[in-house]
Amino acid sequence: MIVTLDGPAGAGKSSAARALAARLGWCYLDTGAMYRSVTLMALEQGIPLDDAPRVADLVERTVIEFRDGRVLADGRDVSTEIRTDRITQATRAVADAADVRAAMKRVQRRMAEGLDVVTEGRDQGSEVFPDAELKVFLTASAEERARRRLAEELERGRASSLEQVQESQARRDEGDRTRPVGAMRPAADAVLLETDGMSREEVIDRLAALIAARLAERGSS
Ligand code: DC
Repeated sequence: MIVTLDGPAGAGKSSAARALAARLGWCYLDTGAMYRSVTLMALEQGIPLDDAPRVADLVERTVIEFRDGRVLADGRDVSTEIRTDRITQATRAVADAADVRAAMKRVQRRMAEGLDVVTEGRDQGSEVFPDAELKVFLTASAEERARRRLAEELERGRASSLEQVQESQARRDEGDRTRPVGAMRPAADAVLLETDGMSREEVIDRLAALIAARLAERGSS
């Protein structure tokens, strides 16, 4: 079964998807980490980020694995490196290229083939897995998302303020809304889950309940 979890940055997707997959013993696909890893590899290999055909080729060649909460690219642990500001910035351009997105789509489908998967990103339910049995679009108000992002930054030991976080979030949201390709939109048949005021645990419980309901429907049909 494929469960897609899409939504804007700060809606709590990553922690929910990771914890949900762990609870169910399913595979977890962090597609943001895939875009980030390929960007890192391109920079390291001197591939110009605007050379979409070469970056797309790199997408097909790079083996990305998710293991014990770590991200491996061609066997190397890149979990920390892909979260730097430099990679966050550079990834945007890479993720806007249609050739790169098409290659990612192929790779992500291949990775999920025949498995029970929780996949997380921006376009998983709308573009990559339109036939997924459960699609969820997680949202939260801008205030709540900024508060969570700030808590994460502080947890990682980075000095930041609510104003800074709100400012960069507003920029990201605007960029996401106006992207030429892969613009973020919920799939028509996605369940919208607004997570304001919900704890991480509550979000995961809710998602697990949605999955249980789908499995029960499947069993009775
Ligand atoms: O979720 P994140 O911040 O790790 O995502 C990193 C970048 O990749 C960000 O610019 C959004 C982009 N992305 C995308 O275009 N499509 C996805 N399915 C996942 C991420």
